[in-house]
Formats: sequence, structure tokens, C-alpha cells
Amino acid sequence: MPQQEKYHEFEREIDSWRVRKKDSSWRKSYDEVFDQQNLMIIYKLFTDGVFDKLDFPISTGKEGNVFRASTKDGKLVAVKIYRTSTSTFTDMAKYIQGDPRFRGLAGRKRKLIYAWANKEYLNLMAFDRAGVRVPKPIAQRQNVVVMEYIGDENEPARELRNFRLEDPEPIARKILDYVRLAYQKAKLVHSDMSEFNILMFNEEPVIIDVGQAVLLEHPNAQEWLERDVNNVVRYFKKQGVRLDAAKELKEIRKT
Ligand SMILES: Nc1ncnc2c1ncn2[C@@H]1O[C@H](COP(=O)(O)OP(=O)(O)O)[C@@H](O)[C@H]1O
Ligand SMILES: [Mg+2]
Repeated sequence: MPQQEKYHEFEREIDSWRVRKKDSSWRKSYDEVFDQQNLMIIYKLFTDGVFDKLDFPISTGKEGNVFRASTKDGKLVAVKIYRTSTSTFTDMAKYIQGDPRFRGLAGRKRKLIYAWANKEYLNLMAFDRAGVRVPKPIAQRQNVVVMEYIGDENEPARELRNFRLEDPEPIARKILDYVRLAYQKAKLVHSDMSEFNILMFNEEPVIIDVGQAVLLEHPNAQEWLERDVNNVVRYFKKQGVRLDAAKELKEIRKT
């Protein structure tokens, strides 16, 4: 299909979603996600062959949306699109527009979000290299990150909080081991580790949402490591697993 036609088809597809979801809260987020600039980035990823079709949204979050997409040869990928239009930052920008003292700030905001997406992509690589099970990073372009899709044909993997564990202890051990590997090998602290950012796939935990992970040099790294470990320990204690956060922390920090 000629490029031009393909782009129009893509636009029609997006429009049909808009109509279908008209009365729901999806509507607003679609309009935000599929602004002109994002459409161009997604289109570029199409033509680069990274994926061929956006299938459906998996999640609409505060900072961005995640979609399932498929490639030409039928493989599934996840596409995370960071929001550039609505964020607290945009609300602030409204009040400084036209003020010469803050010229260029709007452009800097976009750049900041690109840097954030790039950080998530690089962190995914670092976690992966350290042996932490994360979605494999595939591509990143501006505010869009493409990664391995975690789930099967029918549905994306569930977040840990929505998954009933038959035998929680080995899962808890594995997650804490991932925290340790990240710390010792990748020199990273996830910093938002919880039952919301762990997916369960084939009875195995997969760590996601690594954009905010920081290097050990970060001034808050130790504090956030403690918070991560406490979150995991708290969650699994409720499931009857006997865990001692202080002991786990000591183990992680032992180098
Ligand atoms: N690679 C993936 N495969 C399948 N589902 C995913 C993937 N990445 C994210 N998700 C789903 O999208 C949700 C939001 O993604 P996440 O990266 O946590 O962004 P945020 O919490 O900042 O909105 C996740 O909780 C999960 O349900
Ligand atoms: Mg999340």
C-alpha cells in the first residue's frame, strides 16, 4: 500500500476509536494521545517496521497510555506513549506563555518528556542485562517506548495486585532477588516497586514501569530502596509470607 494511503488508513483507524469511545473517559485521553506530533511519531514507527498496527489500549495512566500493537509477522509488542499535552507541567505552562522571561519553556517540557522515555528505555536495557525479568526493550522514539508485550493473544498479563497467588513465597523471593540484582549489577533502584508495577505472566513476576529508576549515586537512592523493599515485604506479609525487611535490605546492600 502506498505510504500516503497507509497513513490515511491509520488516521481512519484512530478516528474510529474516537467515535467508538465517545461517551467514555477514553475519549479525552485519545484526543490527547493522538495529537499531530504523536501521530507522526507513531507513523514513523510504522514505516520503520517496528509495528504495523495498534490493536487496543491496555492502560490509560496519569503520565501516559500503553497499547498492544502487532507487527507485520503477527508478533505482539507493547507501546507506551508518554503524554506531552496534559500534565501538571502544561497547566503551569498556560500561565507563563507569552512571558518573555520564560521563553522556550514549552519546548523544554517536550524535551524533558523525551528524556524520560529515553531513560525508561535505557533502564529496561540495564535491568535486562542484570538478569531482572523486564519487558525486552525494542525501540524508543521521542516520547514513545516500544517493548516486549507481556501477555497472551487474549489478554495482557495481570498486575500482581489482581493476581491470586497459589504459592506466594517463591514469587516474593524472586522479586526481592530482582531488587538485589538491579542494585548490585545494574546499580539501579526501581523506586516505584509495588504490586502495581509487577506483572504476573506464566506464574512468573515481570517488573515494569522503570522510567523513574535511579542510579545508586542519586541522593535518594537508599531511601527509595528501603521503600521498594518495604512495599514488597508489606504485600507478601499480607499473603502470609514471613519476611523481615531489615534482613532483606542488608542482603541487597551486601556487595
Ligand atoms: N510490556 C507490557 N506488556 C503488557 N502490559 C503492560 C506492559 N507495560 C505496561 N503494561 C500495562 O500497562 C499498565 C501501565 O504501565 P506502566 O508502565 O506501569 O505505566 P504507568 O503506571 O506510568 O501508567 C501496567 O500496569 C500494565 O497493566
Ligand atoms: Mg505503573
